[in-house]
Amino acid sequence: MEARVTATQCSRFSDLIRSATHAQHTQAEESAFMADLLGGRLGVEAYARYTEQLWFVYRALEDAADALAADPVAGPFIHPGLLRVAELERDLEHLRGPDWRTAAPLPATIAYRDRIAEVAAAWPAGYVAHHYTRYLGDLSGGQVIRSVAERSWGFQRKGDGVRFYVFEGIDNPAAFKREYRELLDALPVDESERDRVVEECRRAFTLNSAVFADLALAFAG
Ligand code: HEM
Repeated sequence: MEARVTATQCSRFSDLIRSATHAQHTQAEESAFMADLLGGRLGVEAYARYTEQLWFVYRALEDAADALAADPVAGPFIHPGLLRVAELERDLEHLRGPDWRTAAPLPATIAYRDRIAEVAAAWPAGYVAHHYTRYLGDLSGGQVIRSVAERSWGFQRKGDGVRFYVFEGIDNPAAFKREYRELLDALPVDESERDRVVEECRRAFTLNSAVFADLALAFAG
């Protein structure tokens, strides 16, 4: 059982979120699908299938971005340099060819996408939880996945196939992440709402792990 981290143990909200999701982060990193993908035990087909799932997830995140741009809670997090759908589409065109739009979401991807759409429509702070879980992760561990993909499947460095992991509109990712955490710390909501946001971050990690589990089933050796 994961120990519950409370607001009194962490003075910064961004630290609280990180601590509260630390165990799940480790689980996601060590999931069979990720470990096999990064360990070179899966082929480019698995990588392509994973990229398709990300396309469904990011469409849900980014379809909501315009509507939330002026929202006092979610709006400050919306940044054009983060947007990933166009990059995913270029990667999928490269990975799958012109018919890539026939891609199907796995059951866990449908659940994840639907949850993002649900909070995006009704709960801006919940949307922030999903935004954080994906984009801050992509700016961090995503870079590990990119270098493995480039090495394993011969994509051009930062080229088609791995564009999802390349943030051309963000000059200094470390500074960007620092500022992002400051935005989290300044989230204009009360403590009980902060608790709900932490819970939604945990839920976002769970939804991600479920996608990995579905992918592992699809590619079980
Ligand atoms: C093999 C897979 C992964 C690797 C190697 C990895 C690696 C990392 C690393 C090294 C950091 C540290 C960044 C820093 O301190 O600045 C990080 C942060 C993060 N990762 Fe991952 N990660 C992986 C999977 C995931 C997944 C599946 C998610 C969730 C969808 C995720 C979400 C995050 C988030 C939200 C952060 C930012 C934490 C914070 O500073 O608040 N990661 N990751």
